[in-house]
Amino acid sequence: MRTMKIGNSGLEASVVGIGTWAIGGDSNWGASDDAESIRTIHRARELGVTLLDTAPAYGLGHSEEVVGEALQGRRDDYVLATKCGLRWDIEEGAVFLERDGVRIVRNARPERLREEVEMSLRRLKTDHIDIYIVHWQSVPEYPVPIEDTMGALMKLKEQGKIKAIGASNVSREECKEYVKHGQLDLIQEKYSMLDRSAEQHFFDLCAEHNVCFQAYSPLERGVLTGKYTLDTPLGEGAAKRKIKWFEKENLVHIVDLVKKWEPLCRKYDCTMTHLVIAWTAAQGTGDNVNVLCGARKTGQIEENAGGGDVVLDPADIERMRADVEAIA
Ligand SMILES: NC(=O)c1ccc[n+]([C@@H]2O[C@H](COP(=O)([O-])OP(=O)(O)OC[C@H]3O[C@@H](n4cnc5c(N)ncnc54)[C@H](OP(=O)(O)O)[C@@H]3O)[C@@H](O)[C@H]2O)c1
Repeated sequence: MRTMKIGNSGLEASVVGIGTWAIGGDSNWGASDDAESIRTIHRARELGVTLLDTAPAYGLGHSEEVVGEALQGRRDDYVLATKCGLRWDIEEGAVFLERDGVRIVRNARPERLREEVEMSLRRLKTDHIDIYIVHWQSVPEYPVPIEDTMGALMKLKEQGKIKAIGASNVSREECKEYVKHGQLDLIQEKYSMLDRSAEQHFFDLCAEHNVCFQAYSPLERGVLTGKYTLDTPLGEGAAKRKIKWFEKENLVHIVDLVKKWEPLCRKYDCTMTHLVIAWTAAQGTGDNVNVLCGARKTGQIEENAGGGDVVLDPADIERMRADVEAIA
């Protein structure tokens, strides 16, 4: 597995990361098997996947707890990322969403972050977080200046509770604001070969400021593994249903793509999932893109990790881009 530097933090992590949203097992994904989740996290490390991403909001603490369990006696084997700024235990803040009878608010005020980091450290059973990411940004109903949020994060870094700072779901302006007020080492944004809008918003900024661009949902929640036919049941949970590519009229294009790329799979002796991950990692400038794939089963991480070893020829990267541009 290739590794890469995470911004200027001094951290080095695998190009393919493992995301644990589904491990939270809430109504977004349907129940997860915790024992299998832990096996998956351990298998990831055996395969060279060191970057491990979670968040308090994933299963309202459950994902962090499962990750904490998995890391017992192995904490230093992983580059651990978790998030802040979404709370379900306080009223104060702007409503983010209401789900399963729970109201989640956005609140990244300094005093709230100081509380939140302690809760995550407890659930994760560790004394430090490697990458601490502001999950969603403040909105006008409850504004919190990025300068204040960043100030609090820089203090946590001085105290050794976190090693690097990230931000997620930012606008270009918000990204610039983070860079202005501290050391931003990573942004985590929705990016896949079917949803490339982040390229124009962030790739130049990330290169200019040496910020790692971490792509989330690179497999479009599984549809880009090429395993979904028009008859495949979607299973439980809302997360997949939010992805338009699972709808029949769009899925036909993915089914076509799988056929079209069979010769590429043969050329690289790999699967569609591998091609997609390798293509995603090859974007941006100067090995700056990290590919964060969700997995909650050992078989999934075994396949996804392999994507980190495939290096595509430039002509194939361009050809694949042309093929996806024809459908998205
Ligand atoms: N910052 C944010 O706001 C944000 C938002 C979304 C995600 N994220 C992070 O990014 C991670 C990845 O994003 P994502 O989970 O939305 O999407 P993704 O990585 O595109 O898809 C993950 C899902 O696809 C299925 N899958 C994965 N590998 C597979 C394989 N080899 N074969 C078949 N199916 C496979 C699994 O679903 P099943 O187990 O259901 O089959 C898995 O949970 C998350 O886990 C989370 O850590 C962050």
